Amino acid sequence: MRSHYCGAINESHVDQEVTLYGWVHRRRDHGGVIFLDLRDREGIAQIVVDPDTEESFATAERIRNEFVVQVKGRIRRRPEGTTNKDMPTGAVEVLGKDVVILNVAATPPFPLDDYVDVGEDTRLKYRFMDLRRPDMLNKLRFRSKVTSYIRNFLDGQGFMDVETPILTRATPEGARDYLVPSRTHAGSFFALPQSPQLFKQMLMVSGVDRYYQIAKCFRDEDLRADRQPEFTQIDIECSFIDENTLMNIMEEMVREMFHDLLDVKFSPFLRIPYSEAMEKYGSDKPDLRIPLEFTDVADLVAPVDFKVFSGPANDEKGRVVALRVPNGASISRKQIDLYTKYVSIYGAKGLAWIKVNELEKGAEGLQSPIVKFLGEDVAMAIMTRLGAQNGDIVFFGADKAKIVNEAIGALRVKLGEDLALYTCKWAPCWVIDFPMFEETNDGGLTAIHHPFTSPACTPEELEAAPEKALSQAYDMVLNGTELGGGSIRIHDGAMQKTVFRILGIEDEEAQEKFGFLLDALRFGCPPHGGLAFGLDRLVMLMTESQSIREVIAFPKNQSASCMLTQAPGLVDNKQLKELSISVRKPVKEEK
Ligand code: AMO
Ligand code: AMP
Repeated sequence: MRSHYCGAINESHVDQEVTLYGWVHRRRDHGGVIFLDLRDREGIAQIVVDPDTEESFATAERIRNEFVVQVKGRIRRRPEGTTNKDMPTGAVEVLGKDVVILNVAATPPFPLDDYVDVGEDTRLKYRFMDLRRPDMLNKLRFRSKVTSYIRNFLDGQGFMDVETPILTRATPEGARDYLVPSRTHAGSFFALPQSPQLFKQMLMVSGVDRYYQIAKCFRDEDLRADRQPEFTQIDIECSFIDENTLMNIMEEMVREMFHDLLDVKFSPFLRIPYSEAMEKYGSDKPDLRIPLEFTDVADLVAPVDFKVFSGPANDEKGRVVALRVPNGASISRKQIDLYTKYVSIYGAKGLAWIKVNELEKGAEGLQSPIVKFLGEDVAMAIMTRLGAQNGDIVFFGADKAKIVNEAIGALRVKLGEDLALYTCKWAPCWVIDFPMFEETNDGGLTAIHHPFTSPACTPEELEAAPEKALSQAYDMVLNGTELGGGSIRIHDGAMQKTVFRILGIEDEEAQEKFGFLLDALRFGCPPHGGLAFGLDRLVMLMTESQSIREVIAFPKNQSASCMLTQAPGLVDNKQLKELSISVRKPVKEEK
């Protein structure tokens, strides 16, 4: 049996006989003495094998990197001058008397010491090796700490952990479903849950009162650094609760967790209305570490001849904003061209700019491709509104509001990163007062949160002006990432039907898809609300990782496949036949 983890030995163990197990991180042959760095989950211990112990020495000579080894020996202080202060076990070593090879290992596909620049697909193909790297193991360990912290907190607050089905019906959260064909009901499909939303609402109808679940969710959507097709939510629901109380409990949980696990102290979170977030940052998940804000200038440019600006300024759906970057005038033309290209990803047709060289000289002192089109008066009026100073640069976005918000919002984040403008390390906030709906490309309406979110008005007011209605939804945002979102739900059947109707879901379809929900609302549904955090995103931010793939043991790659198991894969014709499915693509031959 193991007596200690490799990473746990220290000076207090000197002269003790120990038994260690692990992988050989490195073997060094020092003319007559062999050093083995033995690694396990907890760290690395230095083993010394000298030629006096003949059998063990012979064994040690055969050892290669990543062999699995058992070592018995005595702990001793490292000789003067050979201690390693950077290693927790660096003051001691094990004099290995008995060394046994438990298993050999092929040469690793990539070195495991420091971060190695090997393609991500290779890391994912050999994920079992990649996870041996201390950095990766530490992330898994931290994730486990987060989930147990959250379980403890929620258990303490009277929340009950209840599991909900994975084989279910479509749960509308705005993404495409993953479908699972049914063998017993030919031609019918289960959908994997995009979230446990409707089940947790059912649990409130059942009287569970306070529910949570660390739940797998599945969404077939375009992947990004903070999105996976299969991810984990900390899913929460509560009965007889209002928006404020719920947000307070959730905020307390996150604040205490950051304090206990990272020693980070947050002040109470800012609560920013959606309209203000869009106005100032062009985003409903503002990164408040960055001290840049939009300034609307449509009224100033509406009369000018420059159509690029006056067009959107006079369009009801248009927006013209300026983004002043203090001391940004040193940004090169080449860099401005790169930013212009960057905003074009978001649909911007250009990126106008003004460098403020010598404000005292009026238009003369402004360097810009557009001042000549705006005229001195308008240009100077803009400078005054912005409070511009010599040395600043001002960027402009003019287009449909949606494009301006996305493009200049993304530029704001990029400038924050490129110019290291952050004013703090952590900037959490709530975004509140979301609209109920947003317009789709075909002119219809879609729910901003989901169709079960309660509006902050009566059904009559909602029906009269759905596009103006606000909802009782809230998002928790940290450093520009949406950590979690939720809402108070509709608990009244008439209101639910009204929302379905506004979304273009007629009664018959509503009954067919959500009959069970409408039924539940008829049988004494308590007022209730909840929220779900993205666990992967939370852990990504807390461990300062670049992507959620770094904090998921076995993630999918950028094209939604599992490099390790080669899923998704083809299946036998026999299996397809059983499922009453025929595929247009060729499939594997029947065995
Ligand atoms: P929502 O769709 O906002 O709400 O999801 C909640 C949180 O889940 C995380 N998340 C994701 N994480 C990784 N990959 C994805 N593809 C992904 N999609 C979402 C985000 C997000 O904030 N049922 C509602 C919650 C509720 O109303 O209670 C829901 O699912 O961090
Ligand atoms: P143009 O007249 O198209 O050459 O544009 C003059 C300047 O306005 C250039 O610096 C363009 O990058 C910029 N520009 C063009 N379209 C837009 C837009 N929609 N928003 C902001 N700037 C733009």
